[in-house]
Amino acid sequence: MIIHSINPLNFRNLAHKRLEFSPGCNFITGFNGQGKTNLLEALFFILSLKTKRGSVSDNIRKGADSFEIDSSVTFGQLKHRVNFSAEGRKRKLLIDDSPIKRRREYLEQVLAVDFFPEDLLILIMEPSLRRDFIDYACVQYFLPHEDTLKRFKRTIEQRNGLLRFPDRLDQNLLDNFDSPLSEYSALIAIARLQLLSELSEKTDEIFREGIGEKYKAELNYVSSVDGIPQSIRPGESIDHTDFAGIYLSEFRKRRKQDIESGRTSAGPHRDDWSMTLNGKPVRSYASRGEVRSAMFALHLARFHVLSEKRGIKPVVLIDDVMSELDSQRRSRILELLPEGQIFLSSCDPLPETGKIADENSAHFLMEKGLARGID
Ligand SMILES: Nc1ncnc2c1ncn2[C@@H]1O[C@H](COP(=O)(O)OP(=O)(O)OP(=O)(O)O)[C@@H](O)[C@H]1O
Ligand SMILES: [Mg+2]
Repeated sequence: MIIHSINPLNFRNLAHKRLEFSPGCNFITGFNGQGKTNLLEALFFILSLKTKRGSVSDNIRKGADSFEIDSSVTFGQLKHRVNFSAEGRKRKLLIDDSPIKRRREYLEQVLAVDFFPEDLLILIMEPSLRRDFIDYACVQYFLPHEDTLKRFKRTIEQRNGLLRFPDRLDQNLLDNFDSPLSEYSALIAIARLQLLSELSEKTDEIFREGIGEKYKAELNYVSSVDGIPQSIRPGESIDHTDFAGIYLSEFRKRRKQDIESGRTSAGPHRDDWSMTLNGKPVRSYASRGEVRSAMFALHLARFHVLSEKRGIKPVVLIDDVMSELDSQRRSRILELLPEGQIFLSSCDPLPETGKIADENSAHFLMEKGLARGID
């Protein structure tokens, strides 16, 4: 997969000008507030139809009422024109000038692995960030999982809607929700556990052997429900019926408590996962540099696991996360960057060695939303 060029129109502060990229490394430098992150966001958007910061309409340049990204992308062996526009609530995706109704048909064929500065908070801040991270990775791993997440969300909102009015509560109606809810819960927990087991092995390998860190990195599931394991072996199959049964009995056990509090107190929406280094949580144990290093290992692991599963080489987008890393870690991480197309932004000048600096790479200076090619 390669993004050959992009031409944004009214996308945040980016200039309306076609930018041509290298199929290898693309390095974007520039002062703060010039548009480096905006460019990486535009690239992420065109490959995921999802925005990193805020809603889709937050991407519209202040004062404008629509945005458009026109791009040239190779996927499925062929070069395509991909054009996305948003105006008010209207969204339009054109592939080779024809409208696409099912966005999944397109998303099946493209893939981006993104590492933005806010991802550094995932390991240390609130559980919802970790749930969002693992759920999106599960969707990238298996796109139909998106439907399971939507159904779960809708069902739990309906269940909570009933719980909020205990005086009018019909227990039979609640029974009708608990059964599908436990089915979706099982699917979500199984997907998370399976992906975490694959990511855990790969992250540890990259963290210790690749970057040269000394601690063993492990990812574990932390469920709000007894009986859901912390981890499984990669490839281990899980009986969906067992898991659904565990969730169903938990929903029943907690029914009185849930009616009192007006919300569903356990389930995948309350579950969490953690990364530990030598058994100690990253959150309370690791230095700032080690958190960055651990996150790099996790994102690179995500790259390898996803490219193997999907049979697509993802485009890698790394936005300004190299600072605070010492020179040894920085150069080892640069060496670990996978083959394929990479976009890397930084306020710092271009590294002097490595594939970012080689003759196949392209270098840009971003100023006031306009990226200029530099030598
Ligand atoms: N919808 C929008 N319309 C117009 N300008 C916007 C919009 N959203 C963000 N901006 C502006 O875009 C500018 C560039 O933001 P961006 O985050 O890309 O900078 P950056 O080069 O990554 O800076 P840093 O090095 O600090 O991360 C900011 O000044 C911001 O205010
Ligand atoms: Mg930025």
